[in-house]
Amino acid sequence: MYNIHTKLSVPQFCINMLYYLLFSVIEMWWQMVVVCACAGIILADQTDWRIVNIDQGPVKGYRAPHGNIVFYGIPFATTPTGPNKFKPPLPPPTWNGTFEAIEKFVICPQQTSLHVSSENLIRETKDFFLNPQEDCLITNVYVPDTEETNLSVVVYFYGGAYQLGYSNIKTAIHLLNSKEIIIVDFNYRLGAHGFLCLGTEDIPGNAGMKDQVALLRWVQRNIASFGGNPNDVTITGWSAGASSVDLLMTSRIAKGLFHKVIPESGPSLSAFSVQIDPVANAKAIAKMLDFEDVDNIQALEDFYKNVELEKLYSLSFINDSDSGLLFAPCIERYLGQEMFLDESPENILKSGNYSKVPMLYGISEMEGMFRLPNFEGWKNLMNENFTEFIPCNLKFKSEEERDNVTLEIKRFYFGDEPVSEKNIMQYVQYFGDTLFIYGTARAAKIQVEAGNDQIYLYEYGYADENSDYIIHTQTRGATHCAQTNAVLDLENEENLSDDYKKMKVLMRQLWINFIKTGRPVPEGSPLTPWPPVGKNGSPFMFIDRELTLKEGFVQDRALFWDGIYEKYYREPIAPYPF
Ligand SMILES: *[C@@H]1O[C@H](CO)[C@@H](O)[C@H](O)[C@H]1NC(C)=O
Repeated sequence: MYNIHTKLSVPQFCINMLYYLLFSVIEMWWQMVVVCACAGIILADQTDWRIVNIDQGPVKGYRAPHGNIVFYGIPFATTPTGPNKFKPPLPPPTWNGTFEAIEKFVICPQQTSLHVSSENLIRETKDFFLNPQEDCLITNVYVPDTEETNLSVVVYFYGGAYQLGYSNIKTAIHLLNSKEIIIVDFNYRLGAHGFLCLGTEDIPGNAGMKDQVALLRWVQRNIASFGGNPNDVTITGWSAGASSVDLLMTSRIAKGLFHKVIPESGPSLSAFSVQIDPVANAKAIAKMLDFEDVDNIQALEDFYKNVELEKLYSLSFINDSDSGLLFAPCIERYLGQEMFLDESPENILKSGNYSKVPMLYGISEMEGMFRLPNFEGWKNLMNENFTEFIPCNLKFKSEEERDNVTLEIKRFYFGDEPVSEKNIMQYVQYFGDTLFIYGTARAAKIQVEAGNDQIYLYEYGYADENSDYIIHTQTRGATHCAQTNAVLDLENEENLSDDYKKMKVLMRQLWINFIKTGRPVPEGSPLTPWPPVGKNGSPFMFIDRELTLKEGFVQDRALFWDGIYEKYYREPIAPYPF
């Protein structure tokens, strides 16, 4: 009854119905009949269960149709609310009785209407009865059907541009079937709630990242009770989730909480991963919400503390042309409290003073397909004013310098041609590079130079007749996070092409190898040997129907952007005192 990939089972329907009824205003006698009948069905269905003692009290999980025991909705922290809603998470509740771990619909407040319109970010959610709550810091634990203990632990961080997503929006039940790992997923605060950053006592910034650290601390305290090994924790995520786990590597307060990292399509050095100027962003957003007194920090803070969450989530920032996000992690200002990030990730990586753990690090070949829905709206704007489309983490001494560099960038991708249907492949490459690909090349290079000799770098290129066409072409490609979809569960996998089924088997094998050994192709494996990356992006694995070890990760493009960033890099700053 806890399988989220099949159609709603009767008990599932009943759970949904219960929620609906609980929250509906009108109470009628027939609804009470449905409630009672459904409660009976749910109780009768929950026959196979396990009770685990965690430091908050006993929790009871149930066997799902896929055979694994799942614990849903365990609170791992308490969300501060009201005027404290931007502060770090509080300790979780404790209980005397047994906690029924069955609530799988709690999500953090977000613009749920965006889910349906951003399919390449987030799976359709029509089967769910989502339950946004301000107190949303819950975790789900998926335990394989085995008596073995000390299993490797994998923690999933969802993507969604730091604005969308929830714990079980994608799942990895197929990885569980190996019976060799335990999986954890969870919610972290989103949008303003998680990422407004004013550098004040009440809005210090990075609440969402501190939620992530609180979850990793909860795993350290409790995962052994479920059969997991707290000394063998892999953190992984896609898109903003990848950016999150990549940032966790540089966070001083996350040191020692994990042992391997798999960021999929989202490096910490991308323009969107860290706010360039968080106070400027906070002012800009307040103005969009019709608040004018933005230069008075006290008034600005009061505005954010008192504005309704609905209003904060009425805005969307996924389509900013400069590859930035207005709500994202930030460098914090020291206020005597614990900070998630106290310096730019680039400087921390360069210093070599961070968790140099093994990484499985990479991107998809056609990441920029992510921006195809914008093409019609953007192509003319790009021809009129390309400046608006260069990454926000560049800075220039003068307008003339800016215009010259803009031209240099446009020429590199489009020559002297205007952006049009004819060179749409270049459009795809441009946004792939600026959003996800170059940041990955740059971070890998800096880490190698700083002494991390266990980075397994890859480019994922698989596409088949089920993949989308790039509009105006006869080409299909591996889009943003295509590798994530290859590893994770898809609905009706039995209907996939034979090629893609084989691809998923291969990807899951590589990922499980890495999770268990720190190497995607361990000693003695029949797969193509895969050494770690050294300088110049070599070697890296090109992953398609075959594994091909190649030289020079996106080499000419990485060199081009290295030249640009050497001269014009704009470092992110912490909030400054007003
Ligand atoms: C490295 O970072 C830690 C904090 O995580 C700090 O205590 C230590 O002094 C730093 N070491 C160096 C050599 O900078």
